[in-house]
Amino acid sequence: MSSGTVGRSSGYDVEREVRERYAEGAAACESSLCCATTYDPERLKLLPAEIIEKDYGCGDPTRYVKRGESVVDLGSGGGKACYLMAREVGADGRVIGVDFNDAMLGLARKYQAEMAEKLGYANTRFVKGRIQDLALDLDKAQAVLAGGAVSSVEDLAAFEAACDRLRREEPMIETESVDVVVSNCVLNLVKPEEKAKLFDEIFRVLRVGGRAVISDIVCDEPPTESIMNDPKLWSGCVSGAFVEGDFLRRFADAGFYGIEILERSGEPWQTIEGVEFRAMTVVAHKGKQGVCLERKQAVVYKGPWREVRDDDGHVFRRGERVAVCDKTYRLMTNEHGPYGVQVIGIDPVHEIPLEEAELYDCSRRALRHPRETKGADYDVTTEADSCCGPDGCC
Ligand SMILES: C[S@@+](CC[C@H](N)C(=O)[O-])C[C@H]1O[C@@H](n2cnc3c(N)ncnc32)[C@H](O)[C@@H]1O
Repeated sequence: MSSGTVGRSSGYDVEREVRERYAEGAAACESSLCCATTYDPERLKLLPAEIIEKDYGCGDPTRYVKRGESVVDLGSGGGKACYLMAREVGADGRVIGVDFNDAMLGLARKYQAEMAEKLGYANTRFVKGRIQDLALDLDKAQAVLAGGAVSSVEDLAAFEAACDRLRREEPMIETESVDVVVSNCVLNLVKPEEKAKLFDEIFRVLRVGGRAVISDIVCDEPPTESIMNDPKLWSGCVSGAFVEGDFLRRFADAGFYGIEILERSGEPWQTIEGVEFRAMTVVAHKGKQGVCLERKQAVVYKGPWREVRDDDGHVFRRGERVAVCDKTYRLMTNEHGPYGVQVIGIDPVHEIPLEEAELYDCSRRALRHPRETKGADYDVTTEADSCCGPDGCC
């Protein structure tokens, strides 16, 4: 095991503890569940007071969504993030909040009509599901149970088969269907043995080119046994916190690229038995998967480091023209992507049409000779442009 809470199980029912604690948090504000986050007061003006009050987040991933995007919020609680994002994405965007807690879903849904009225459009809905199983709509699974499908242990296999059919035929969140997955202080609450599945689910529902922006509690060293064995600390977003490096590694293991810390609070939120717990917000992108095609492109890493290495082991040395496939070229030169400001893209003089491009072996590291970019018989000579203006130089 690498570090942290990975693979460690507690001797209590984590999910029940979490469900009960947040049912109480939906009924009455519980200040010990909050980790102070500063919001622009202008953005909050639109929200009902109760939604602002019953905020159990630790960061603000909502600042990173854009107009027109479709967003899923994992563990949406009272709906604060969803309603903030409903405004950011606008009438053409949509927001889906996922939570497994009826009380929290009830609180969020209570203000749906009021918020639609204030915004002038309805683009937000709340669904009941476990965030580590985003295909299964728990309301639909409940309907199967209500139909009397399970009355003995012999029926369990039939119920599982019905759930599998729902996942396949009526998925709560479809594969590659959303632009952004956000979450605020929830991933830590998922049982250790289901955390890998959780990251796989985030990856599954994102479309190619999409991203995850996740705020959560992290710790600087693994929580002690006594922290792990305390159900109150678990439901209070402490025991299940990711060790910092492990948090970032989880995204890489699930297949993301361009993984970056956007925010990390300086002061710990809590220190328990010497272990520091603080908030961190991370962004991770989906899109490096797929076929590699040769179109004679190159990228130059600008610096300041002597060299950088991506998650697949490709090395980019400062100033070198590294040969890359078309997919990597587009990822690295996208000005809105994670690498855009760090690299210079070099196109061939004669573009190779996509349909004529051959397969490229991305596992080998090769430099792109300028003659390869320009063509072997390139012999253009040009006059130097004058850089002086009409009033002379300088
Ligand atoms: C700490 S609160 C955060 C709520 C909200 N994101 C906010 O910022 O106020 C955690 C929320 O996640 C929900 N939750 C915890 N584990 C979950 C799981 N495995 N699946 C779905 N929801 C979960 C809880 O019911 C609760 O509403």
